[in-house]
Amino acid sequence: MLSYRHSFHAGNHADVLKHLVQLSVIDKLQQKNKPFVYLDTHSGRGIYDLKSDEANKTQEYKQGIFQLVDQQADAPEIVKQYLSLLNIQPGRALNQYLGSPELSRLTLREIDKLILMELHNNEINVLKSNMRKDERVAIHHRDGFEGLCACVPPKPARGLVLIDPAYEVKQDYQQVVKQVSAAYKKWATGIYLIWYPVLASSRDYSETLVKQLSQQGFKNLLKIELAVSEQLEDFGMHGSGMLVVNAPYQLDQQMRTVTDWLLPILKQDEHAYAQVEWLIQPE
Ligand SMILES: C[S@@+](CC[C@H](N)C(=O)[O-])C[C@H]1O[C@@H](n2cnc3c(N)ncnc32)[C@H](O)[C@@H]1O
Repeated sequence: MLSYRHSFHAGNHADVLKHLVQLSVIDKLQQKNKPFVYLDTHSGRGIYDLKSDEANKTQEYKQGIFQLVDQQADAPEIVKQYLSLLNIQPGRALNQYLGSPELSRLTLREIDKLILMELHNNEINVLKSNMRKDERVAIHHRDGFEGLCACVPPKPARGLVLIDPAYEVKQDYQQVVKQVSAAYKKWATGIYLIWYPVLASSRDYSETLVKQLSQQGFKNLLKIELAVSEQLEDFGMHGSGMLVVNAPYQLDQQMRTVTDWLLPILKQDEHAYAQVEWLIQPE
């Protein structure tokens, strides 16, 4: 039973961090004139209506993407690119938010390809319609954990995978470790972007996940984590992180610039923090 709907959370602080890391890695790959493949194991629907009942029930986007709307002037280049993809302009209403597949689709070149997976029956249909019969895009209605290993190495064997589960069930944490390790054995040069939530202390498994992923023999493992407020005991997601396996050259510097800029804008109290650190140093 899949009960998670990203429509309730689209554009929140975790989406902002995740999508800026995603776009930064794509930017690095596009610095070479060689094609690559973008894989998304948990794609969602691709485009989210911020006027929907779901989005307005939680209004999480107000503490996320909305905070960036009037802050463009001194933004790092990759943030400017992100805001431009979202068509954000000061004084103009923001009615929709773009998810990871659509941000990639708009950014990738004619020579690049996308492989998108989604399990939910309704989300997959909306995703298909949102991807507009783009010939670079292959959409799979399947379990993204199982699909990850089945689809790697892609052709060409250059590119990145975004692994972005809902973590509604505890098994998702174990699946991430198991499936990314198995995929890495088949495709050791792929770049793997693993999103994780930092939750209230009684429900938080982020440290365990990060520790386990650090022990899988990966190369160049970079952690980027941003929390916007105090960690409560029972409730809420006050932060999130991205682990990047095979992080491209100087991604750490680029992400420090981004988080230095982002933190004062997204912070809600004095407990907010940003970390960019190598868990496995580049060779
Ligand atoms: C956090 S959302 C994805 C958001 C999207 N990556 C983005 O950034 O715009 C997680 C998605 O995974 C889907 N999902 C849940 N379990 C799945 C599974 N085992 N395989 C593939 N998709 C799954 C959910 O229906 C949901 O749409």
